[in-house]
Amino acid sequence: MTQFNDAELTTAVIRSFDQTPNPRVKFLLQELVKSLHDYVRRTDLTFEEWDYAIDFLTRTGQKCTDIRQEFILLSDVLGVSMLVDAVNHRNRDGATETTVLGPFYVGEHKVTPHGADISASLPGERMFVQSRVTDLKGKPLAGVPVDIWHADDDGFYDSQKPDYTAQGPSSRARFITDADGRFYFRTIVPCSYPIPTDGPVGQMIKQTNRHAMRPAHVHFLVNAKGYEPLITHVFMDGDKYLDSDVVFGVKDELIATIEKRTDPVMPDGKSADGPWSLMTYEFRLKPGGGMAPAPLGTKVAEDA
Ligand code: BEZ
Ligand code: FE
Repeated sequence: MTQFNDAELTTAVIRSFDQTPNPRVKFLLQELVKSLHDYVRRTDLTFEEWDYAIDFLTRTGQKCTDIRQEFILLSDVLGVSMLVDAVNHRNRDGATETTVLGPFYVGEHKVTPHGADISASLPGERMFVQSRVTDLKGKPLAGVPVDIWHADDDGFYDSQKPDYTAQGPSSRARFITDADGRFYFRTIVPCSYPIPTDGPVGQMIKQTNRHAMRPAHVHFLVNAKGYEPLITHVFMDGDKYLDSDVVFGVKDELIATIEKRTDPVMPDGKSADGPWSLMTYEFRLKPGGGMAPAPLGTKVAEDA
């Protein structure tokens, strides 16, 4: 009978996965065991601390629903989401930079005509967004679905509101690029906002004296056949949280200068009804494949 000391224990647990049929799963599990054991050893983790961690993870799971994902939030604030993004996008070759998907990609991205106001009923400063999708050489890509979502003037996404199911989506839409790769829409200028702080992740942020803010941004998911799905944001230049995003998601290339305008008409020739802002940003896609993530709450078929 082996008498395990702490080093032998790690070797035994790693070996216990030796017969795992899928080599990648075997590798991931054995590396996870190494890292977890190493953490316990380096920190001399106490029983109380381990109990606290189990309780924290339990509460994180209990906070999740079809449209609320506390585990994504945890991964985001620990920088894991951005690290997974970084190791999977090491060579951009001139393609637009990527950033976190975040927990508010919840579906209901209805195809919407160009020029539509996706925040029609919301108060806020009006903004016109004009954009284009191209390949790495600048060739326009037509017929590409682009999902958009952003927070309102109070810093909340539609899905965070109690009446979301009854009210349906707001500041959330899908546009299909035209023959010249273009799409455009009206909305409000988003503001910086705190990530949800009413759960265990927010509690951790408060208890560790971090701030919970994200700089203002609009989310884009560009999903063209034959190209890598592009998950990104466009940030608003001048936001005071650009250097301290709670989820570490800002990249310089993703910061857009937002022009303040007073012209009486917007770029599509329709009336502006007062001062407005203009966001202009182009997306360059890299050839590739793969699937864009399914929105939260979408039922994914189980393996047969
Ligand atoms: C968001 O931008 O929607 C987001 C991303 C990560 C954590 C929380 C919110
Ligand atoms: Fe966001």
